[in-house]
Amino acid sequence: MLGRALAWTRPGRRDQRDGDERDVLVTLIVLLGAPGAGKGTQAAALRDRLGIPHIATGDLFRAAIRDATPVGLEAKSYMDAGQLVPDDVTIRVLEERLGRPDAAAGAILDGFPRTVVQARALDTFLAGHGRRVDAALLIDVPAEDLVERLSGRWICRAAGHPYHVAMNPPQVAGICDIDGSALVQRDDDRPETIRARLASQLADLDAVVEHYRGTGALRTVDGRRPIAEVSAGLVGALGALDTAPPGRA
Ligand code: AP5
Ligand code: MG
Repeated sequence: MLGRALAWTRPGRRDQRDGDERDVLVTLIVLLGAPGAGKGTQAAALRDRLGIPHIATGDLFRAAIRDATPVGLEAKSYMDAGQLVPDDVTIRVLEERLGRPDAAAGAILDGFPRTVVQARALDTFLAGHGRRVDAALLIDVPAEDLVERLSGRWICRAAGHPYHVAMNPPQVAGICDIDGSALVQRDDDRPETIRARLASQLADLDAVVEHYRGTGALRTVDGRRPIAEVSAGLVGALGALDTAPPGRA
């Protein structure tokens, strides 16, 4: 399986389940990109190839809003305004999710970290578990393309699978190809909220990109190309890491 080829063993880190000592395959990938760059689209493709969960803080917040939890109630006002949810809430939500068993062998993080405070918190959390960010993949899309992508996006009600009216349409209008649920527009894809998201979040993205340039984990892929070509670019970037993991070359 490709996941096997892309992941790499951690010398010195052992899995003792079943009384059998063996190396553990760990792949912790961070997907970086502006709102609408294609993080969710590509994370789903990588999840299918690597067999590790796709964890998106935006999806976790939208589920919390749907369930009217205290986190959801707090996050909603920020999301509706196009602002980032405060770091302390976001870090807590992410760490809780990353601590679940299905993330033990790795995860694809989509939309986290969004600030340097979050990036450092993630580094500390992972170090506490003998892990680190193996690859920070930046999907690079110029600002002028993002408004069109976001205003044409439809997602499915059941699982948030993303489509685009022109660039990635479903086979049957208004219906998700994958689970058959109805397609809806996200609340924060209204034109005024799109503008607010882009205006307020791009500087933080730049700072996070610099953080991962510093750790050596950053790889940049041209996100203007068609979806399948961006996927191939990301897989290529991970393949290069397989032979020379960041910080261990
Ligand atoms: P979140 O849900 O993470 O939204 P986002 O970062 O704004 O990104 P999007 O989900 O809008 O875009 P995407 O990059 O996933 O693109 P997609 O694949 O859908 O966050 C929402 C809110 O939650 C934030 O504003 C904030 O308030 C809060 N939040 C979340 N995480 C947080 C954190 N860590 N800290 C604080 N607050 C947080 O693609 C977009 C469209 O383009 C689709 O229609 C798709 O079909 C199309 N498309 C994709 N790729 C291509 C391509 N190559 N060519 C043509 N079209 C394409
Ligand atoms: Mg997304």
